[in-house]
Amino acid sequence: MTWNPDSWRARPAAHQPTWPDQTELERVEKELAAVPPLVFAGEARDLKAKLARVAQGEAFLLQAGDCAESFDGFSADAIREKLRVILQMAVVLTYSSGVPAIKVGRIAGQFAKPRSKPTETVDGTELPSFLGHMVNDLPFSARDRRPEPARLLQAYNQSASTLNLLRAFTKGGFADLHRVQAWNQEFVASSAEGQRYRALAAEIDRALRFMESTGVSSQHPEIHEAEFFTSHEALILQYEEALTRKDSLTDEWYDCSAHMLWIGERTRQLDGAHVEFLRGVRNPVGCKVGPTATPDEIVGICERLNPEREPGRLTLISRMGAGAVADGLPPLLEAVRDAGHPVVWTCDPMHGNTFTSETGHKTRHFDDVLAEVTGFFAAHRQAGTWPGGIHVELTGDDVTECLGGADQLQAEDLGRRYETMCDPRLNARQGLDLAFRVAELVDPNHVPVELP
Ligand code: PEP
Ligand code: CO
Repeated sequence: MTWNPDSWRARPAAHQPTWPDQTELERVEKELAAVPPLVFAGEARDLKAKLARVAQGEAFLLQAGDCAESFDGFSADAIREKLRVILQMAVVLTYSSGVPAIKVGRIAGQFAKPRSKPTETVDGTELPSFLGHMVNDLPFSARDRRPEPARLLQAYNQSASTLNLLRAFTKGGFADLHRVQAWNQEFVASSAEGQRYRALAAEIDRALRFMESTGVSSQHPEIHEAEFFTSHEALILQYEEALTRKDSLTDEWYDCSAHMLWIGERTRQLDGAHVEFLRGVRNPVGCKVGPTATPDEIVGICERLNPEREPGRLTLISRMGAGAVADGLPPLLEAVRDAGHPVVWTCDPMHGNTFTSETGHKTRHFDDVLAEVTGFFAAHRQAGTWPGGIHVELTGDDVTECLGGADQLQAEDLGRRYETMCDPRLNARQGLDLAFRVAELVDPNHVPVELP
């Protein structure tokens, strides 16, 4: 089957906006096709090699960030706080479980959302649903909800400056392990998780000082710099196609809008446009796996997206819901295992556990998040496969969007700081708490997986 960056156009593409101005869309596509890539093919290959270690049971994937990034809340502070909590979580996972955590943000491109309904009706007025800032705007007015191609350019520009700042923070000293104490934000430090983190960070400090005092250099780049990768759902395929470039080194196609791209639960049709597009780029790719997925479907996805069975190429992101994971996941793990596909399995404990609180807020309960992660680990223990990571929606800010956690957030607290553009996110304390709980679930005596 031949593949081209535009071969998806011959397939049905689910969850696409109806762009009112096609001429303008084509003009923007041309402009995007000429801009510099955001990431380089070599970086995507580097991530793929790291994910191959996850597939082998030698590392853990921490993928985290906003449900939807916003054009409005764009600031250096917000990026830094998000990075900070992800660095903290990765340190907790790595130090407590002894397994290195690979850090991938839902960031610098996560601007498009599939929605349950294409339109929304309020008081008899029907308008297109909000599909993320890459497409339209949130306020309920005809002007705001109109899909505007110029937003694709704004998404590119915001991604470029976000990525620039992330590179500066991770390589320029902010992420130096010697600063592990300083990552603890004030509103986190005062909490039980924050104190638990402080104790762990003190141990790391002591270990670094010990190394230095024995003359072992702690000047390795690994100690001074963090490796951090970007990812988003590849939903708006005109954007992804325009940023797809041929790598001059290997002559292969890479989607240079992010290091890793994934296919959402609503767009994973085997013969659909999204699977067609991602099968041809050489980046590491992901696919969400919800409770309706059948073993045949998922093995079909593996065959289509990773026919060469390259470890690290494909990550399956299970999002069953706390109530469905125990029965739903094991048959899929077994089918993929028996088909000999070397995938990374990770757990998104957010999207199967969303409900509307009595205050009308879309929310999730921390206990459900934890229950799904626990069920995910149990299913892997049963199948003899490696629970390779977590995929979560979070922010570094002190928001009140998810219930429960050590603070015991209640429905009446949700209105206090409910700021998400789309789905409810864990706040920094809940994120850190989750990292400690997950680290406890990782089996320190696990044996590496034998890949086919
Ligand atoms: C998401 O990751 O924000 C999302 C929409 O997830 P899913 O495709 O699993 O529903
Ligand atoms: Co979401």
